[in-house]
Amino acid sequence: MKSIHSLLVILFPLVSSCSAAGSRGEVSEVAGASAGTLSIARIRAQLADPQAHAPFVPVAPVGLGDLADFIPAENPLTPAKVELGRQLYFDPRLSLDGTVSCATCHHPAKGWTDNLPASVGIDGQIGGRSAPTVVNRILGKSQFWDGRAATLEVQALGPIGNPIEMGFSPEKAAQRLSEIEGYQLQFRAVFGGGPTPDRIAKAIGAFERTVISGGNKNDYYEQALPFFDFEPEEDEDPEFLARMDRVLDLEAEHRMSEAAERGRELFFGKAQCSACHAGQDLSDEEFHNLGIGFESANPDKGREEYTGLEADRGRFRTPSVRNIALTAPYMHDGRLKSLMEVVEHYDKGGTSNPWLSDKVFPLNLSDREKKDLVLFMEEALTGTFPDIGIPRLP
Ligand code: HEC
Ligand code: HEC
Repeated sequence: MKSIHSLLVILFPLVSSCSAAGSRGEVSEVAGASAGTLSIARIRAQLADPQAHAPFVPVAPVGLGDLADFIPAENPLTPAKVELGRQLYFDPRLSLDGTVSCATCHHPAKGWTDNLPASVGIDGQIGGRSAPTVVNRILGKSQFWDGRAATLEVQALGPIGNPIEMGFSPEKAAQRLSEIEGYQLQFRAVFGGGPTPDRIAKAIGAFERTVISGGNKNDYYEQALPFFDFEPEEDEDPEFLARMDRVLDLEAEHRMSEAAERGRELFFGKAQCSACHAGQDLSDEEFHNLGIGFESANPDKGREEYTGLEADRGRFRTPSVRNIALTAPYMHDGRLKSLMEVVEHYDKGGTSNPWLSDKVFPLNLSDREKKDLVLFMEEALTGTFPDIGIPRLP
C-alpha cells in the first residue's frame, strides 16, 4: 500500500505535500481542491519522468489478496493516470456550477463518504440514497446500491450527469477540461489525446482503484488463525517457521479485546452475519432484502428498479463492513444512526415484508452479545488507509 503512494509522492512531491496525509481527521474539510495551484512547469516535469507512465499493481494490505486480477486490461494503472484521476476526483469544475466534486459526497476525512443519511448535490438538492464509501471499490463486482453500474468507469460518469448531484454532462465536463492547459497536457500524456468522457472515467476509475483499506485487527487475526494450534514437525522448514512466528507476532501486536473476539464469534457464528458479509471485503456482492424502509407506503424498490424483476424488490447489494465505524449513518437510506441500531434491526429479524431474505430472522441476542458484536465491528474492522491528500489542481 505504502509503496504506490510513496511512489506517487516521489513523482509528485509538491502535489502530495500540499495537504496532510489522507488518514481520517487529518484532511481539511473542503469539498474540493483549489484551481490554478498546480503550475504548468510542474506538470511538465512530472510527466517527463518515464516512471510516471509505468503500469503498477497496488500492493495489497494485510487481509486482501493479489489485486492484479481486479485491474481491467483496458485501463491499467500508471502513476500519472492515478494522479490525473485524483485531481478530477477533487475538482468541483466537474459540476455545473463548480461547487460539487466527487469528494463532496465521498470525502477522505469521512471514511470516503459524507456521513449524511442522503447526499447533498448542487443547489443544496438532496438525493434519495446514502452515499456509500469509495474505499475498496476495486474489489466490487458491481457498483451502486442496486448494482446498476458494472464498472467504476461506467459509475464515474453517473454523478457528473445526475441533475441533483453534479448537474452537468460528461461531454460538457470534457469540454470544460479541454480549456484548461494543465489538464490538456495530462490527458495527452496519459491517453494520447485530449479530455473525453471515456478518458475522464478511466482516470477517475484508476484513482479509485488505489483507495484501498485492509490491515485491521480482524485481518491480522485471520492471517494468524491457521497457526494458533499448529504443532510444527521436528524437520519443519526454518523459513516457514520464521514466517509463522512473524504472523503470530503481528497478531499479538494488533490483538483485539476479548469482548471484540466474542463479537467475532457471533459475527461468523450465531448471528450469521457472515452468511452475507463474507470474503475479503466482507461482502458476498449479492443483493438482499432486509426490509429497510418497508414500514413506509412507498419503499425504495432497490434492485427491482434496475432489473424489472419483482423478486428483486427491496434488494440492495451487501455493503462491505470494513471501516464501518467511520461511515454512519447506515443502510441505503441512512436511516440507522448507529451500529447498535443496525444490530437491533437484525436481532428483531429485519422488517417483515413478502420479499424479506430468508437469511434474516430473529437472533435472540442478549444485551451483552449485542454490545460485543458492535465492539467487534468498531474495534476490529477499522483498518489502514493510503495517504491520499487533497491535490493541487491545474
Ligand atoms: C451529491 C453527492 C454525490 C456526488 C457529488 C458523487 N457521488 Fe458517488 N454516490 C453518491 C450516492 C448517493 C451514491 C449511491 C447511489 C445509488 O446507489 O443509487 C453514490 C455511489 C457511488 C459509488 C458506488 C459505490 C458502491 O459501493 O457501489 C461510487 C464508486 C461513487 N459514487 C463514486 C463517485 C465519483 C467518482 C464521483 C465524482 C465523479 C461521485 N461519486 C460523485 C453520492 C455522490
Ligand atoms: C441476508 C444478507 C445479510 C445478512 C445475514 C447480514 N447482512 Fe448486513 N447488510 C446486508 C445488506 C443487503 C445491507 C444493505 C441493506 C440496505 O441498505 O437496504 C447490509 C447492511 C449492513 C450494515 C450497514 C452498512 C452500511 O454501509 O450502511 C451493517 C453495519 C451490517 N449490514 C452489519 C451486519 C451484521 C452485524 C450482521 C449480523 C447480525 C449482518 N449485517 C447480517 C446483508 C446482510
